Amino acid sequence: MYIERIRNKALQEKIMTAEEAALLIQDGMNIGTSGFTPSGYPKAVPLALAKRVKESGERMRIGLFTGASVGDELDGELARAGIVSMRAPYQTNDSMRDYINSGGTEYIDMHLSHMPQHIRGGYFKKLDIAVIEAVAITEDGNIVPSTSVGNSPVFIEMAQKVIIEINTSQPIELEGMADIYTCENPPYRKPIPIEKVDDRIGTPYIYCSSEKIAAIVFTDIPDMPGALAPINDAAKGMSEKFLDFLRKEVREGRMPKNLLPLQSGVGSVANAVLAGLKDSEFNNLTCYTEVVQDSMLELLDSKKAVFASTTALTLSDTALKKFKDNIIFYKDKIILRPQEISNNPEVIRRLGVISMNTAIEVDIYGNVNSTHIMGQKMMNGIGGSGDFTRNASLSVFFTQSTAKEGKISSVVPMVSHCDHTEHDVMLIVTERGVADLRGLSPKERAKRIIENCAHPDYKPALTHYMKTAGEGKNKHTPHVLKEALSMHIRFVETGTMQ
Ligand code: COA
Repeated sequence: MYIERIRNKALQEKIMTAEEAALLIQDGMNIGTSGFTPSGYPKAVPLALAKRVKESGERMRIGLFTGASVGDELDGELARAGIVSMRAPYQTNDSMRDYINSGGTEYIDMHLSHMPQHIRGGYFKKLDIAVIEAVAITEDGNIVPSTSVGNSPVFIEMAQKVIIEINTSQPIELEGMADIYTCENPPYRKPIPIEKVDDRIGTPYIYCSSEKIAAIVFTDIPDMPGALAPINDAAKGMSEKFLDFLRKEVREGRMPKNLLPLQSGVGSVANAVLAGLKDSEFNNLTCYTEVVQDSMLELLDSKKAVFASTTALTLSDTALKKFKDNIIFYKDKIILRPQEISNNPEVIRRLGVISMNTAIEVDIYGNVNSTHIMGQKMMNGIGGSGDFTRNASLSVFFTQSTAKEGKISSVVPMVSHCDHTEHDVMLIVTERGVADLRGLSPKERAKRIIENCAHPDYKPALTHYMKTAGEGKNKHTPHVLKEALSMHIRFVETGTMQ
């Protein structure tokens, strides 16, 4: 009966096993796959590919391009099989992270909104095969995506061949949720006609020429999103402080009563902020983001939020079951867009999005490191945080004031790697307080960040640094260069920054 999901009868002849489809993937190819923050990624074909290479020992090195992070069946298996020679634009998998940091593959950590234009521009050379998870293929051979859209439209457009994985564990009722709109290349690009988060501007399927479809594989392997960390006291504290800040913004007339569209990164702080909104007085909330996670569904359930625009549904097992059981309720409250649109600077700026992301560390001037542990080891990547931060009407970073049981201060004199600059970051929130950096000069920002956000154990060292750095002339943003990374160096040498 699942054959009915392939409504183009001629294409039913392309059905084959995952092992047969994986044979299309050869050494030296570039592969683009669906998938965004482990949802809607192909599973059966990468599992078959990894198994084949492990068992046969054949030489296989491929470029692997995705929407964002994908599940272990793809990133984990291919990294452990040593197959990947180039990875972009984002990952969160333990095995892939180790593989990147040990030099097994090149990794290009990019703004997610840049990826489609880099693929179209051919900067990664040609794209040989797109492997796309879908819930159905239409009569005309077009593709109905599953729980994420990500880069699937551009991969299908640019690939020589397309492999479709029809995942029968994904509800067919997802059909109608996607809104696919493709941007022309400059100089022919038009304004993207989104003025409200719920504007539909495209088609519910991804256009695909049926001649490109080389294989169709059925699978029922479910999405495996990682379990969300429970909301701890620090995350709850940050959420409460931030909501108080928003109340003040509304009181002072800088924000409407239902706020502005929210973007929230993945993780427990984002989850805590959205959970806090559920118990707050705010109503009629909207969301313009790249990931909808459990707490966003709860906001929709409680009718606190009225609409969410995203490129992926990243739900825990429980939330995914609730979503599937009540899909008709959610269907007219969620849009799944290509990441070229969900993360598009033009739209984010027009809508006045409030961006909420997490930092690894921040410095006293407001620069943020989101990606590199101690300046060198790749954690995940910048993901969409830069797309949203630079273009938001209010850009917020959350971080606990310390990490590693207090041995590391997350507020440092100079970040060991910079992803978001002092020019983009407007608000820093730790469990200690909120630093509103808008309208402040570098020296004023440093004072406020140390006072409001640093942990008391590290305030004396940071204050001393600022005082010493401020000595002498010709310093707009004072530093003592040989001391700027001294806290990091101390940690590497002694295991604590104190
Ligand atoms: N110095 C050194 N290490 C630090 C640190 C610091 N200041 N702060 C955190 N860490 C370490 C933690 O100890 C942990 O290490 P472990 O894996 O060995 O336990 C690791 O960094 C991750 O920290 P954690 O607190 O678990 O992170 P998180 O789940 O809150 O995620 C980011 C934080 C920054 C890694 C994550 O938000 C991210 O990848 N951001 C970039 C992408 C993004 O923002 N996307 C947004 C849209 S989805």
